[in-house]
Amino acid sequence: MCAYALVGAFSLAGHAQQLQSVTGGVYSAGQAARGQQIYQAQCAECHGNAMEGTIGPPLAGESFLSSWSARPLADLVDKIEKTMPFNLPGGLSRQQSTDLAAYMLQAGKFPAGQADLRDAVLAQIVFPTARPSPAPAATMSAGASLPPPEGNLAELMRAILFPNSNIIFNLQLKDPGTQPKKQPAASPFDYVEWGSTIYPGWLAVDQAAVAIAETAPLLLTPGRRCQNGRPVPVDRADWKQYVATLVEVGKVARRASQARNYEAFIDVSEKLNDACANCHKVYRDKGGTEGSGTTRCQ
Ligand code: HEC
Ligand code: HEC
Repeated sequence: MCAYALVGAFSLAGHAQQLQSVTGGVYSAGQAARGQQIYQAQCAECHGNAMEGTIGPPLAGESFLSSWSARPLADLVDKIEKTMPFNLPGGLSRQQSTDLAAYMLQAGKFPAGQADLRDAVLAQIVFPTARPSPAPAATMSAGASLPPPEGNLAELMRAILFPNSNIIFNLQLKDPGTQPKKQPAASPFDYVEWGSTIYPGWLAVDQAAVAIAETAPLLLTPGRRCQNGRPVPVDRADWKQYVATLVEVGKVARRASQARNYEAFIDVSEKLNDACANCHKVYRDKGGTEGSGTTRCQ
C-alpha cells in the first residue's frame, strides 16, 4: 500500500514538472505553413477554411478549447492521425499530423516559437485548463444532475438508437418465438456473436425496447453538440416533442414484447420508424442528404 502510494507520488511530481503549455511558442511558423497546405487539401471541406466547422466541428475557438481543456497535444495528434480525414482515415503520417496540430495552434492564436513541434514532447505540452461554462449547469437544475455528455449526437444515435431499433425492425423478417436457439460460434471466438446467444429471441426485444425508452431522454442532455459543432437544440418545443414520442414508442414496444405479441410489432415498427424519421426530416436531413451535415441541428 505504502510503496504504491510513494511511487505514485514520485511519478506524478516528475510528470508535473515537465508539463508545458501550448501558449509557450511550441511550434514554428514554417511548420504551421506545412500543416496549412495539408489542411487546405484534406480538412477544410469539413472543418471550414477558418476552422469554424461545417460538416465537422470547429477546430478552434471556445467549444474546441473546452473539449481539449488540459489535455496533451499527443491526444490531439493521435486523434488526427488515427481518425482523420473522417471519411478516409489512416493516410496521414505522424509528422503530417503533428504539422496539422501546429497549424491548428496557429489558427487558435497561440504564438509560434523558433523550433518545430516534435513528436517526443507532445505528451508534455497541454492545452490551457478551461473554466467550465455555466450555461449547461444552469439548465440542468430542472432535471437530475446528469454528468456532462461524452459523445456527440451522431455517436449517441449510432451507439444506442441505431442497433436497438434494428433489433425491433428485424422482427419484420423473423418471429423471435420460432427462431432456433443459436449455437455460440466455435472459432475464432467472437464476443459479439457469443453475446447474441445469451439473451436471444424475445429477451433481446425486451432489452431493445428498454434501451430506447430509457435512453431517449439523453437526447435532451444539456451541453451535447452535434457532429458539426452546433449545440443539440434541446430547448426547442418540437425537439422535446420528438423525444417524448420516442419514449412513448419505446414503452409501447416494451409492452408488446413482454406480451410476446408478435403481430403488434407491425404497428410498433411503423411507429418507431416514424419517430426517428419525423425528427430526422427536420433536424438531420434538411437541405441535403444524410451525409451533408452542414445544416444539421439548425
Ligand atoms: C469528411 C469530413 C471530414 C474531413 C475531411 C476531416 N474531418 Fe475532422 N472531423 C469530422 C467529424 C464528423 C468529426 C467529429 C467526429 C469525431 O470526432 O470523430 C471530426 C473531428 C475532428 C477532430 C476532433 C475535434 C474535437 O473537438 O474533438 C479533429 C482534431 C479533426 N477532426 C481534425 C481533422 C483534420 C486535421 C483533418 C484533415 C486531415 C480532418 N479533420 C478532416 C469530419 C471531417
Ligand atoms: C429528436 C430528434 C431525433 C430523433 C427522435 C432521432 N434522431 Fe437520429 N439523429 C438526429 C440528428 C439531429 C442527427 C444528426 C446528429 C449529428 O450530426 O451529430 C441524427 C443522427 C442519427 C444517426 C447517425 C447518422 C450519421 O451521421 O452517421 C443515426 C444512425 C440515427 N440518427 C438513428 C436514429 C434512429 C434509429 C432513431 C429512432 C429510433 C433516431 N435516430 C431518432 C435526430 C434524431
